Amino acid sequence: MTTDRPQPFFAGLDEDIKVILLAQVRNLWTHASTAIEGNTLTLGDTAFVLEEGLTIAGKPLRDHQEVYGHARGIEVIYRLLEVTQLQDADIFALHRVVLTEAIMDIYKPVGAWKNEANFTTLVGPDGRQHWREFPEPAHVPALMSQWLNAFNVWYGQPLTTDTAASAYADMHLDFVTIHPFFDGNGRMARLLANLPVLRAGFPPIVVPAEGRQEYKKAISDYQQTIPDLKSLSDLRALPRNAERSRFQDLCRNYWESTMALVAEARQAQERKRVVSRRNPGAPKFQG
Ligand SMILES: Nc1ncnc2c1ncn2[C@@H]1O[C@H](COP(=O)(O)OP(=O)(O)OP(=O)(O)O)[C@@H](O)[C@H]1O
Ligand SMILES: [Mg+2]
Repeated sequence: MTTDRPQPFFAGLDEDIKVILLAQVRNLWTHASTAIEGNTLTLGDTAFVLEEGLTIAGKPLRDHQEVYGHARGIEVIYRLLEVTQLQDADIFALHRVVLTEAIMDIYKPVGAWKNEANFTTLVGPDGRQHWREFPEPAHVPALMSQWLNAFNVWYGQPLTTDTAASAYADMHLDFVTIHPFFDGNGRMARLLANLPVLRAGFPPIVVPAEGRQEYKKAISDYQQTIPDLKSLSDLRALPRNAERSRFQDLCRNYWESTMALVAEARQAQERKRVVSRRNPGAPKFQG
């Protein structure tokens, strides 16, 4: 029920402090998620582009577009906190916002599930490189319907830090394992899996750009425990094993950066209160 929804992570902050915190979270989340994907803008560049609306000389247009797409995706995510049940139409709308390239290619659909096979490669225990095909396009609608059912169970529940981190990790890992889109699967997972986290009143979990090798390896290690990924047609067949637990532990640690931003904002708020108590004649701030 919406009436007993937990307070958001920025509750109780003055408007000016809240605005700064939300911008810091957006900048960090956008920078980290696009950098994982290969974007060359730094955190400073990303903040500059989003806050000043200016471009970074010599950096590709595409990198700027990706940053804007992701930042707008975060706005969509905050709006989705108001829906009680997530639907595939919400996921498609988010995909259209996040994938900003003006692609007119029927084999690269934006705002629709993939219609062609997609692959990853991995180095196996034999030291050789192997192809792996993600679940076939024909299985994606049913798999994503199961994913949404599982998601909506989490979405309706009050969550603790432990259950919120597990919800994030499971939703994230299952989404990227289904790999339902031709592109943008990582960015979409890193946005969508945060919905239960935000709804429970926590700041988003942000996979750090510098941790991308460990992050991608953890996903790949997990997928190697699925013998026939291509034919996966039932999410219940996904293993709950040590590799999944390792990914859950990683995700829990990824929370550190945004938790620190919230703590700093609360310290700033406290300093502001102390100063205003010392200067009772000063103009009152908006509480
Ligand atoms: N075997 C795998 N190895 C590495 N990453 C994988 C694997 N399977 C799924 N993934 C996920 O897929 C993402 C890449 O997929 P895709 O290119 O569709 O997403 P993206 O958003 O465009 O890129 P990125 O996630 O790199 O930012 C990875 O970030 C990771 O989350
Ligand atoms: Mg990609």
